[in-house]
Amino acid sequence: MKLYCATTNPGKLREFRLAAQGHVEIEPVEELGRLPECVEDGATFEENAAKKALHYSAWAPGPLFADDSGLVVDALGGAPGVVSARFSGPGATDASNNALLLEKLRGIGNRTARFVCVIAVAEQGCLAGTFRGEVEGRILDQARGAQGFGYDPLFFFEPYGCTFGEVEGPRKFEVSHRGRALRAMLDYFDRAAFQSR
Ligand code: IMP
Repeated sequence: MKLYCATTNPGKLREFRLAAQGHVEIEPVEELGRLPECVEDGATFEENAAKKALHYSAWAPGPLFADDSGLVVDALGGAPGVVSARFSGPGATDASNNALLLEKLRGIGNRTARFVCVIAVAEQGCLAGTFRGEVEGRILDQARGAQGFGYDPLFFFEPYGCTFGEVEGPRKFEVSHRGRALRAMLDYFDRAAFQSR
């Protein structure tokens, strides 16, 4: 079965394809970058993922999935949440977002946080379902490691004893919010294929 993916991020596409081997074939939507952009103004990850999937499914010849993800920090009331990518304002970069996060947490003892990813599946403007993955960690007061992207170098994952900035992609995907959401979606397709036999 072929499943279309609404991402222009080659790193994400590679991760998704690797994890989906043996379940479904993942294809990017052709010319995604040239399609009218979807405005991600939802208040939750579910809303944004569903909006994206519904929007881009109009241009996909089969079922399509889109994801929305971010970092949720308890001491900041859930921020940066759905605005994780643009936390530090227009022109935000990973470095400026990480610097702002450290500034906001300066002197705060409670550093618990989680990454959240929601994947939504849609076909021709109809939503088929949403799948959530989360991973718990805590925010260090200094970056460690140069792997990954975004908040990875500040996100300490206890079971690995290091930050996500210090692990290789496939090892991160085994436990990450994105890996968990993707595997929940793949289970759904595996069950659907089994039931239609
Ligand atoms: P998006 O889902 O690609 O829009 O990601 C939103 C933002 O959340 C990213 O730009 C990052 O700042 C942050 N984020 C999401 N997933 C991760 C991750 O796995 N590691 C680090 N940061 C992440």
